[in-house]
Amino acid sequence: MSKIITLHDFILDRQKDFAYATGELSSLLTDISVASKIVNRDVNRAGLVDILGAKGETNVQGEEQQKLDVIADDAFIRAFKTGEEVCGIASEENDDFVVFDDEISKQGRYVVLFDPLDGSSNIDVNVSIGTIFSIYRRVSEPGTMATKEDFLQKGTEQVAAGYVLFGSSTMLVYTTGNGVNGFTLDPSIGEFCLSHPNIQSPETGRIYSINEGNLDRCDPGLKDYVQYCRAEDPSTGRPYSGRYIGSLVADFHRNLLKGGVYVYPTTNNWPEGRLRLLYECNPLAFIAEQAGGLATDGHQRIMEIDPQELHQRCGYYVGSKDMVKKAMSSLKHSEALIHI
Ligand code: AHG
Ligand code: MN
Ligand code: MN
Repeated sequence: MSKIITLHDFILDRQKDFAYATGELSSLLTDISVASKIVNRDVNRAGLVDILGAKGETNVQGEEQQKLDVIADDAFIRAFKTGEEVCGIASEENDDFVVFDDEISKQGRYVVLFDPLDGSSNIDVNVSIGTIFSIYRRVSEPGTMATKEDFLQKGTEQVAAGYVLFGSSTMLVYTTGNGVNGFTLDPSIGEFCLSHPNIQSPETGRIYSINEGNLDRCDPGLKDYVQYCRAEDPSTGRPYSGRYIGSLVADFHRNLLKGGVYVYPTTNNWPEGRLRLLYECNPLAFIAEQAGGLATDGHQRIMEIDPQELHQRCGYYVGSKDMVKKAMSSLKHSEALIHI
């Protein structure tokens, strides 16, 4: 009979791999798993209690907030405040970063950036959604208040990143820069259990994920790319399958396991791109790279972008290595593939 390894056991076991480990990162990851279970509970009963639908407010990016966006944001913030490892957070749902100014939190060595609920437009229709998070070591002095510089770090500085997917089952997938591991929530015992050890993404696959409704609004090369994906060529497995859930985290997860590419390019109506560098693109880029894949904005490696603003957006090409390269090579208005 195979041994059950809970997330908690796994985190503590992995802590031994880091010579400098003090256990703070382990506690922080545990806080995240607890907040995930709280959000999971709320997502699961969303149709039964009054938490579906819009909240009647817009966030700083002008997007309508759903009630569950705010419930998830609050749950994670509460977990980080209660723990003692985090001195501040930034999330998609808050105008500015939030500093925890009590004496214990000010000693915290980490900041967390997160998208509390990704795929909000799918909440009301019972389609997969998720939470995405990214953890950095602060650059300001412990004991002082967190500063903007703590949050505006390149993705290469992430110490951990992950996501929770509320799908047909609930999964938590994360990396600390030492491979990618996935855990499935067993609701009968309330524990995340190791189900996908050492995830490796196939170098190529047969799935392309792009909102084809936008094709007339983006680099014309992408039309050629989609044409390539659709063309009959059994030797390369084409035509590929088009799959687009509209929840980045769910599209990403499927492509990570099966092999595929997800593209959200810059478009006429989203000239900087639609997805957010700090809350969505960097954490998933870290996971993609750790699993052997790639993540770029069409020009350069996502994790090397020097962020200027908290809510900065960018184009996004992520997934299986060969497929990301192929999609980028089709771009006409870019000098693709500079640094990768
Ligand atoms: P969020 O719900 O956090 O605002 O993110 C939504 C994102 C992403 O999850 C998804 O892939 C993309 O927006 C869908 O956008 P389109 O509907 O424009 O395709
Ligand atoms: Mn999102
Ligand atoms: Mn969101």
